[in-house]
Amino acid sequence: MAAKKKIKIVGVLTSGGDAPGMNAAVRAVVRTGLDSGLEMVGIRRGYHGLLREDMFSMNSRDVSDIIQRGGTVLQTARSERMRTAPGQKLAAEICEKHGLDALVVIGGDGSYRGALSLAQLGINVIGVPATIDLDIASTEYTIGYDTAVNTAMKAIDIIRDTSTSHERCSIIEVMGRSSGYIALESGMASGAEEILIPEDGDIDVDRIIGNIRAMRTYGKKHYIIVIAEGVGHSLKLAKKIEEETGMEARASILGYLQRGGSPTVRDRVMASMMGAKAIELLLEGKKNRVVAYQKGHFVDFDFEEASKMTKTLSKDMYKIAQAVAV
Ligand code: F6P
Repeated sequence: MAAKKKIKIVGVLTSGGDAPGMNAAVRAVVRTGLDSGLEMVGIRRGYHGLLREDMFSMNSRDVSDIIQRGGTVLQTARSERMRTAPGQKLAAEICEKHGLDALVVIGGDGSYRGALSLAQLGINVIGVPATIDLDIASTEYTIGYDTAVNTAMKAIDIIRDTSTSHERCSIIEVMGRSSGYIALESGMASGAEEILIPEDGDIDVDRIIGNIRAMRTYGKKHYIIVIAEGVGHSLKLAKKIEEETGMEARASILGYLQRGGSPTVRDRVMASMMGAKAIELLLEGKKNRVVAYQKGHFVDFDFEEASKMTKTLSKDMYKIAQAVAV
């Protein structure tokens, strides 16, 4: 049996939508890597930068003073070219050309798809899950989610003040792509009257209108609807509610204010643990793994296996959120 090639040079990049805690993950990867005698190479702007060979040797000072910062010091991008076979082949050739024995990819679902293609082309890739959407099937935790959901909750609390003062219906749209985790947890934590998530299918407008009419007779001063972007149509829904109930309705789309900001304790700690785990896997001689968090433990899965996993949002939690809202 051929001896395992010893890892010497490791590249690291952040890719896809930025997420608070990505910096803490980069810091952990770089520092634990250097501490183990590895040469660390930072790649700017995700796969976009990789395809342009935009990389630099990193030392410990390059990751100083970043643990508390949102965004990513390595910059990020969504690379269309990396979705194509020629782009993927070129990216693999560039990794080889620069002597990268492994590549740590910090990002979400799309970044994982790019990483899987590199793994299939013979590059040793380790995935670290980072997305505010919490929509990666192999893990119960993704870096950035905790900060984003807390930011959303605080924004909903603020909007609630105005909603109560003006006795309005407020529809607050949160991010999450096609998943409803941010909506469910920020809605539950802020006591929203209604939480609308894509996992629950189409909006039942008549039911919502019926609820608003009933609530007004109980003397409720506001009606907060938290809606996931995957459900959408917030502005139309506001118009319809106002027309049908006579209650003033306003829609607020929180958008990118959920993506940045200083990471919470949880995101900083989870990112540090997951970043360190990525290097640990490489030192153990493992290949093509994703770092994950399951049932209170940091675990890892084969990239291919992880790409086939599916995840479902807790229906029980959704039911409880609805039960405590009325
Ligand atoms: O994946 C994170 C996310 O913020 C999603 O919630 C949202 O749908 C998407 O990225 C927006 O992407 P972009 O920054 O490319 O507009």
